[in-house]
Amino acid sequence: MNLRLMQDSDPTFVDGSRNQVQRLYRAGLVPKHAVLDVGCSVGRTAIGLMADSQFQGTYVGFDVMPKQVGWARETLTPLDTRFTFRHLDMRNDRYNPNGSVERADLKFPVQDGRFGMACLFSVFTPFYKEDIALYLSELERTLRPGGRILATWFLFNDENRDVVQSQSAYPMKYQLDDVTLYNEEADRLRAIAFDETFVREMVRQAGLEVVKVAFGTWAGGPGPDFQDEVYLRKPGRSAPQLPALGRARRKAGRILIRAGHRLASDN
Ligand SMILES: C[S@@+](CC[C@H](N)C(=O)[O-])C[C@H]1O[C@@H](n2cnc3c(N)ncnc32)[C@H](O)[C@@H]1O
Repeated sequence: MNLRLMQDSDPTFVDGSRNQVQRLYRAGLVPKHAVLDVGCSVGRTAIGLMADSQFQGTYVGFDVMPKQVGWARETLTPLDTRFTFRHLDMRNDRYNPNGSVERADLKFPVQDGRFGMACLFSVFTPFYKEDIALYLSELERTLRPGGRILATWFLFNDENRDVVQSQSAYPMKYQLDDVTLYNEEADRLRAIAFDETFVREMVRQAGLEVVKVAFGTWAGGPGPDFQDEVYLRKPGRSAPQLPALGRARRKAGRILIRAGHRLASDN
């Protein structure tokens, strides 16, 4: 299917779909979550979730490329109406250079506080830092308290900077500013890397927390993925704990009432 960005074969695409779902479970997906897929393209993650017999939740994907979103909407939503796809005409020099939405007007096309899990697979790897900061803040708005994010990045730090610049799968030979390196002079957003400390600070400023960073094999890290995986969380109690807490409160209440009866009959 020529809308696939990497021109993957069917088996490679399906394997990628399953792999993305496994990674979401590792990041804290629970089967009833509402999932937000930022930069969903033709719905690789959606296809994996549709094929996953455990998943009972809902899914919204959005992307800046209208053809990919249109294909997913026309082909995947009729198969399962829990899966919906939206278009956002945000500018991206590589994927949507004529986008009409300015940074100042950016708003994800979804409501506040709805999602238990958000994913961004290979989305921050062709993004400028100004857009990443805006997207982190929109993720904070649209996640439920306790909600999780899995985002992939290319990161560098004092330890791996030499490898990143000269021996990685995308040697980041060019410097944009103090915190940004990139791979190809004529196509900055082909692969762009950010200083890890700077990324952690952007996450903090957006009101989110870093849970874990798993350095990918692209720059000699242990993986499990090729890109660096960053697991994030919106602070607060996650919703799945609420019924359990309710049960615990009710049980504590019953114990207190029984204890009260006993106290009353002892007196
Ligand atoms: C490398 S592709 C990854 C697609 C998909 N996440 C996957 O794993 O198959 C990057 C995607 O990010 C999308 N994208 C680029 N800029 C975006 C933006 N500002 N907002 C949402 N998606 C964007 C592109 O259109 C493209 O579909």
